[in-house]
Amino acid sequence: MFDTMTMTKIVGGFCGTLLIFLLGGWAAELIYHVGDEGHGDEHHQAYTIPVEGGEETEEAAEVPFEEILASADAGAGERVFGKCRACHNLDGTDATGPHLNGVVGRAVASVGGFAYSGALSETGDDAWTPEALNAFLESPKKYAPGTSMSFNGLAKVEDRANLISYLETTGG
Ligand code: HEC
Repeated sequence: MFDTMTMTKIVGGFCGTLLIFLLGGWAAELIYHVGDEGHGDEHHQAYTIPVEGGEETEEAAEVPFEEILASADAGAGERVFGKCRACHNLDGTDATGPHLNGVVGRAVASVGGFAYSGALSETGDDAWTPEALNAFLESPKKYAPGTSMSFNGLAKVEDRANLISYLETTGG
């Protein structure tokens, strides 16, 4: 049963499969590289004409928060505030957290009668500027180690900008 012929067929079949597999992989790579060329950064770079001072390329890397905030959507921010509602009110009353109406521009940890942890005063910020709020809300525990605010943070900068834009509308 298991003679040389059978063995040859098995080995031959195996080699054939392997060859097709390798050729397939090679073909896929070829297609991928050809397709990639049009979108690759290198391709673009080749045609970049140096602009005076060359500032444009550097700025493109990171959009300043100010700019993101300028085009933020307060309506979308109101929905993001749903994540804060369990602990924060907007009517001047305090709950687990201090009231947040008028928090933008307000002095840090300044709500009279609220028992702050003390961690917020260690951040080096005097007031809750949009930038300070942006940094705090990205990761409260990292920005203010030891804070009693049990909230993981908002990972998306758009969410933070929309929310801060909404908080700006809540007045004093
Ligand atoms: C689980 C409860 C909880 C949630 C959820 C929560 N916070 Fe807080 N927050 C607190 C507490 C408690 C403090 C006081 C922290 C301290 O003293 O360290 C605080 C403090 C703050 C402060 C500082 C206020 C001041 O007067 O200095 C801001 C700003 C803030 N929270 C914004 C938010 C926003 C925006 C959200 C939603 C994205 C949120 N918090 C979600 C509990 C919470």
